[in-house]
Amino acid sequence: ESQPLKGKAKVVDIHTHMYPPEYVKVLESRNIIPLVRKFPGAPDPRLVLLDAEVPLLESAQQGTSVLPGRPLTRHFSSLYQKIHFMDTHHIDISVVSLANPWLDFLPSDQAFPSAKSINASFSSMCAVHPGRLYFFAALPLTAPTPQLLDCISSISSLPYCRGVILGTSGLGSGLDDPAILPIFSALADADLPIFLHPHYGLPNSVFGPRSAAGEYGHVLPLALGFPMETTIAVARMFLAGVFDKVPNLRIILAHSGGTLPFLAGRIESCIMHDGHLVNGMKKGARRTVWEVLSTQVYLDAVVYGEVGLKAAVEASGGSERLMFGTDHPFFPPVGGEEGEEDGEWESVGLNVKAVVKVIGEGEEYEGVMGGNAFSVLRLEGE
Ligand code: URA
Ligand code: ZN
Repeated sequence: ESQPLKGKAKVVDIHTHMYPPEYVKVLESRNIIPLVRKFPGAPDPRLVLLDAEVPLLESAQQGTSVLPGRPLTRHFSSLYQKIHFMDTHHIDISVVSLANPWLDFLPSDQAFPSAKSINASFSSMCAVHPGRLYFFAALPLTAPTPQLLDCISSISSLPYCRGVILGTSGLGSGLDDPAILPIFSALADADLPIFLHPHYGLPNSVFGPRSAAGEYGHVLPLALGFPMETTIAVARMFLAGVFDKVPNLRIILAHSGGTLPFLAGRIESCIMHDGHLVNGMKKGARRTVWEVLSTQVYLDAVVYGEVGLKAAVEASGGSERLMFGTDHPFFPPVGGEEGEEDGEWESVGLNVKAVVKVIGEGEEYEGVMGGNAFSVLRLEGE
């Protein structure tokens, strides 16, 4: 049994994305990434998001056959498909979020109105299925700070909003930028946790020319670039003292924190042995990475394997800080069979299986699969 178990406590998916139709329209109008483009002979338009996909996008323009990006299927925009996916996998409640790269690329004057419209779209989708859908709002990060603060105050009164989804770029200089502290404080004071999600990965040069030529598909940027990006972003926040400066900030890390559970010890040791930091970050005068992990950080359980999940449980001080997710509509089955996307997804099964193996099938299982999300995100259910 690799699907969430029927008849138990409610199952909640906290890592699940959508692109509302008006967002897809924006992508269709663009000629640099992120973009959506049709290619001759391909049934679905292609969604090209990542820097790592740019070399193939350029060669596809010269007529080579390997297409960049991924097919933009109806799973990305259709509410019907989201509910169908939930029903197929016995998911009771989904906390949906706009997928990457959110509104990060919008010119300053477009960001605020777009955020309003996107968040209104998510609100109305949730209202169609009350008790089954909640959402993490998108923020207009390129807008002037007063508009950004205005947005935070308005989303906090939306009945189905339970936090915000954020990439690692912050206001342009990352999440350790002192200029973003008022935003973190406003989110914390509004009791809106951040769902921190990667997009930018690592520079293409680290993946080499064969990856750029498309030989390895998306494996290196998605399996390694994404988790390293998250790890680096959180380490920078920690080094900048963000968690001490905004002690009521709560942050949910995508993909079980990237590699943070595995590397927390090394990060601690490097701080301890850094001659430059020795006065500024004295032991005893600061909280350790471990302490921050077990007080202000939550991890999703989207790690696809037992060993990684075990590390996540241990690093966050127990399974109460872990929450199940699927990353739908990314990672669909790729067997090539007609209609397979409407059936069970192996990517979901891998995560459920890891939870069962690490936690068992008792009360803690019910917590990770849904109960923890109920309390962390103040869900109400039907
Ligand atoms: N998962 C995501 O959420 N985004 C991507 O771009 C790829 C996988
Ligand atoms: Zn995701």
